[in-house]
This record gives sequence, C-alpha cells and structure tokens, in this order.
Amino acid sequence: MIDGDFSNIDQATIKSLRMMQKYALMHFASEEEYLGKINYPDIEEHIEKHRELSGKIKQYRDDISEGRLILNTELMRVLQGWLQDHILVEDMKYCQYASNK
Ligand SMILES: [Fe+2]
Repeated sequence: MIDGDFSNIDQATIKSLRMMQKYALMHFASEEEYLGKINYPDIEEHIEKHRELSGKIKQYRDDISEGRLILNTELMRVLQGWLQDHILVEDMKYCQYASNK
C-alpha cells in the first residue's frame, strides 16, 4: 500500500477506532469527574488505568493509519476485552465504594 492511499475499508476501520477512542475519552472524563465528587480514594490509580487504555487505543489507531497494523477480528476482540475487563473489574470497585457510602 502506498502511504496515505487507504481503501474504503481502511478508512472505515480508522474512523471506527477514532469513534471508539472518542467514546472512551468522553466516558473516562465523565467517570473521573464523578470519582472526584464521591472522593473515591483510589482515583489516581483509576485515572492511570484510563490513560493506559486510551494510550493503547491511540497506538493501535496510529499503527493502522501508518500501515504497520491491520485491524482484524482478533484485534477487535482484544480491544473489546480491555474495555469489558475495565468495566467489569475496575469500574465495579468504585461502584462498590459508592454503594457503601
Ligand atoms: Fe473507569
């Protein structure tokens, strides 16, 4: 592939990842605001996990944009797994804290 010469599928892939990243950032920002409001004691650790996830999504997006990586079903499964794990494990910790206040 010539640099910058993406097929429609590549463009759709990059657009999907961009939307995923945008959604994740919006979700993380509103969640971090909420964690501040409830004085969640592990807020810094939680924010760091958000940064790690955002960084990984951005890295994938950059790698795909620059032709170093091809998004496939397996990669989508990995991305989905990270978000699910975060919601089911890390987010549940503050839910527990909030419900016990
Ligand atoms: Fe979170």
